[in-house]
Amino acid sequence: MTQTLTLIQPDDWHIHLRDGDALATTVPHAANSFNRVICMPNLVPPVKTTEQAVAYRERILTALANSVISDDRKSAFDPRMVLYLTDHTTAEEIRLAKASGVVQAVKLYPAGATTNSADGVTDILGRACVFEAMQQIGLPLLVHGEVTHADVDIFDREKRFLDEILSVIIANFPELKIVMEHITTADAADFCLAQKDNVAATITPQHLLFNRNHMLVGGVKPHYYCLPILKRADHQKRLLEVATSGNPKFFLGTDSAPHATHTKESACGCAGCYSAVHALPLYATAFESVGALDKMENFASRFGANFYGLPINQTTITLAKQDQVIADAYDYLDGKTLTPLLAGQTLAWTQIS
Ligand code: DOR
Ligand code: ZN
Repeated sequence: MTQTLTLIQPDDWHIHLRDGDALATTVPHAANSFNRVICMPNLVPPVKTTEQAVAYRERILTALANSVISDDRKSAFDPRMVLYLTDHTTAEEIRLAKASGVVQAVKLYPAGATTNSADGVTDILGRACVFEAMQQIGLPLLVHGEVTHADVDIFDREKRFLDEILSVIIANFPELKIVMEHITTADAADFCLAQKDNVAATITPQHLLFNRNHMLVGGVKPHYYCLPILKRADHQKRLLEVATSGNPKFFLGTDSAPHATHTKESACGCAGCYSAVHALPLYATAFESVGALDKMENFASRFGANFYGLPINQTTITLAKQDQVIADAYDYLDGKTLTPLLAGQTLAWTQIS
């Protein structure tokens, strides 16, 4: 008999849906698996105000209504919004965000860290009034944890961020809820473990399944390139350990990030892995690789909701140990394509309902 895995409906606590025509592709893909999704605000221009976040959510919901997924999935899908922290964000904006009921968090991108982060923060403690307000009202800070100085090696940028920036934020705002987004190193996992319960971390499928050899040995493979960049195998191993440890500090965040195929397969390729469409089979493959499928439900469906103080979903989904060949590409934007992570390869798990 085929092995199956039934889980409480998962949420994705870190996803990029983009905007405009991109939503016709990204929204149904995400809504097929997830109820709540935390929508990253690095649009062009970024989502800086509550008003912009509410309008962005409406555009996502319009794309959802126009998509061809089931009515059940349409009514369950609940995009939760994020404000992009800049050097000019005010405490008043934070209070408006909280009152809106749809803004779930505020995102810190150090200026220049990744895709569309040019408006990010240059002076972190310059935003003390904002962190103070967030700490007071319980709005989480999501951090892209990399320093951006040109002289810091790309493989050391996460560790340097922990030592130089995140520890300072935590020392100054010890009760602030913080999610260390898409952690990629043993250093980040152990840093998170050393903090109180108000500091947690998301982990992507690519950082559990791959290391930098997958990206660089035998030729440069641009579809594995994301930020923070894949690290060495011992970091991947530590991430798998903490993700499957049953510790509620670690939960699912795909960081699924669509870039048209030609912009990744390029002399200067964009950062981001597209995984929204098959994220759960990817995570199941990772958890199964260390004999920990029984730990996946808490990671995917409970710990994130608990951290954000939201209810656990009522419905379930089922995966089967059944081969699926990942699509070579999806239609994307006007006549372009979007290449998913592991395009054309076979995964041993399939989402069947
Ligand atoms: O690989 C990434 N892609 N990392 C990020 O932090 C941003 C994302 C994107 O927006 O494309
Ligand atoms: Zn991201």
